[in-house]
Amino acid sequence: MTILAMEERLLTMSKLKWWQEAVFYQIYPRSFADGNGDGIGDIRGMIEKLDYLQDLGIDAVWLSPHYPSPQVDYGYDVADYTDVEPEYGTLAEFKTFLAEAHRRGIRVIVDFVPNHSSDQHPWFIESRSSRDNPKRDWYVWCDPGPDGGPPNNWESVFTGSVWEYDEITDQYYYHMFLKEQPDLNWRNPEVKAAMWAAVRFWLDVGVDGFRLDAIRTIFEDPDMSDETSDVGLVELYLMADEAETPEERRAVAEKREEKFRHQVNQPELHPLFQELRRLVDSEYDGRVLVGETETIEFYGDGQNELHLVFNFPLMKTDRLTPRHIRKNQEERLSKLPDRAWPCNTLGNHDSPRACSRYGDGKHDEELARLSLALVLTLRGTPFLYNGEEIGMTDLIVDDVDQLRDTLALRLYEAAVEVAGLPADEAFERIRHTTRDTCRSPMQWAPGPNAGFSPAGVATWLPVHENHSEGINVADQQADPNSMLSFYKRMLAMRTGTPALIAGDQTMLHGDAEDYVAFVRSTREQTCLVVLNFSADAHVLTFELDRKIASPVFSTRERAGRDDLSALQIAPFEVYIAELT
Ligand code: GLC
Repeated sequence: MTILAMEERLLTMSKLKWWQEAVFYQIYPRSFADGNGDGIGDIRGMIEKLDYLQDLGIDAVWLSPHYPSPQVDYGYDVADYTDVEPEYGTLAEFKTFLAEAHRRGIRVIVDFVPNHSSDQHPWFIESRSSRDNPKRDWYVWCDPGPDGGPPNNWESVFTGSVWEYDEITDQYYYHMFLKEQPDLNWRNPEVKAAMWAAVRFWLDVGVDGFRLDAIRTIFEDPDMSDETSDVGLVELYLMADEAETPEERRAVAEKREEKFRHQVNQPELHPLFQELRRLVDSEYDGRVLVGETETIEFYGDGQNELHLVFNFPLMKTDRLTPRHIRKNQEERLSKLPDRAWPCNTLGNHDSPRACSRYGDGKHDEELARLSLALVLTLRGTPFLYNGEEIGMTDLIVDDVDQLRDTLALRLYEAAVEVAGLPADEAFERIRHTTRDTCRSPMQWAPGPNAGFSPAGVATWLPVHENHSEGINVADQQADPNSMLSFYKRMLAMRTGTPALIAGDQTMLHGDAEDYVAFVRSTREQTCLVVLNFSADAHVLTFELDRKIASPVFSTRERAGRDDLSALQIAPFEVYIAELT
């Protein structure tokens, strides 16, 4: 590389913020590493695994909730916004984790759960104690409806009415999620001040930003009128489970939006997050806000609201077909406001594991490698989910008693009681869709309890039995052809290939059924990416200004340069080349 080219490369990269260059890795703390041998992951375990994360090559961690919590929704029911869950450790240990991560060049963002607290939060305990308690208005309380029942017919995302009757004061409180997760009343300035104080607390501790939970649901329509959709939520869950085509899935999603119309996306959300952005930008340096939503409006004008909003539509499919990927990119990128930065992910603690979801039962390993290649080469910041780097697959529990996900338990009960399904059929459905599938303990070794907890300890969710069949870190570290080695190679390659981080994106061969091909390019580097999602080989012709392709990464042996007039692509190949 000439000095000039090197300077240009540095110039392009220096214009980006750290969170635009970074690859994030989500840690679900309960399932990541058990440092004290009690069957539950903890901060000590996370500290011990920081060298592993550094070696893997990720740049930042998103930590799912680490706050004190009754764990009815595994930390998404926060009982204290400014402390650490005792099962996971102490605030001092958290600070050590943060310092040790930073020492290794790894940034850490934490989850922030603004919509609701736990019903065990002292604020709610006070609020429910009497109608004239000073914290009464910190939550959403309402008199019974005219018939003495709930104030209206709104349903909770987690099934049943959003209204829970509280005998103490003869009123109902509102909960969009579980009844153990009462919604905070953000229209009360004291609530906002208290929540911003919690935000400042963690920023002062030194975290690099927040993943903001369930942000669409923070405000409700003050009108409170009944919703008029023609379908119940349990029915919608069952329909979603049965939907096979993208059209069917879209129809279910639309019905769901219609159903929750009064409960999501209220106009006050945008001024609220603009205020948070101003707080973060004016009082702190280089912190990031990532919204758990796919709604593009949360980017604001591209500079004044959230830094990142997930491209969830990419992951909402059973197969990552080239057609789906191109359509997603076309729709998504054309809608983003100027200077808004995309953010891609294929897995998290609420969704099936990518390796299971996008597999075809025959080429799951190849397809999992292509999934990673896709999120690392598409324009935008990638978010990975712990365990995917060793190809962990969905845990399918054997028994209702093994279900830990409260949502799954509520759905199971509703499937039996509301929809009238026989218990065994209801369980058969739930065991494949429960969020437990992706939350089983991280598989560190082939031995007992997958090395997550000591032998003989009961882990909070069962360990997947495939840990003894090579799906574990220890075996894969030693194998240059393993999924883990593939992840490390690809992550290292991405770091050294600026066009994949900073470049524009142009899709090519828009009709191809089997593969996606696109160019990523900055002023000083142009890369061609071809991802072949099929079992067929292809010979491809590209008519581009630049004629010489020098591979920087491929899943097959390649020697020297390639001819773009007849580029041979192997079945399931990941091909990335620099063009000159
Ligand atoms: C988000 C979280 C999910 C949680 C819900 C309620 O969707 O990702 O795990 O159950 O919010 O907090």
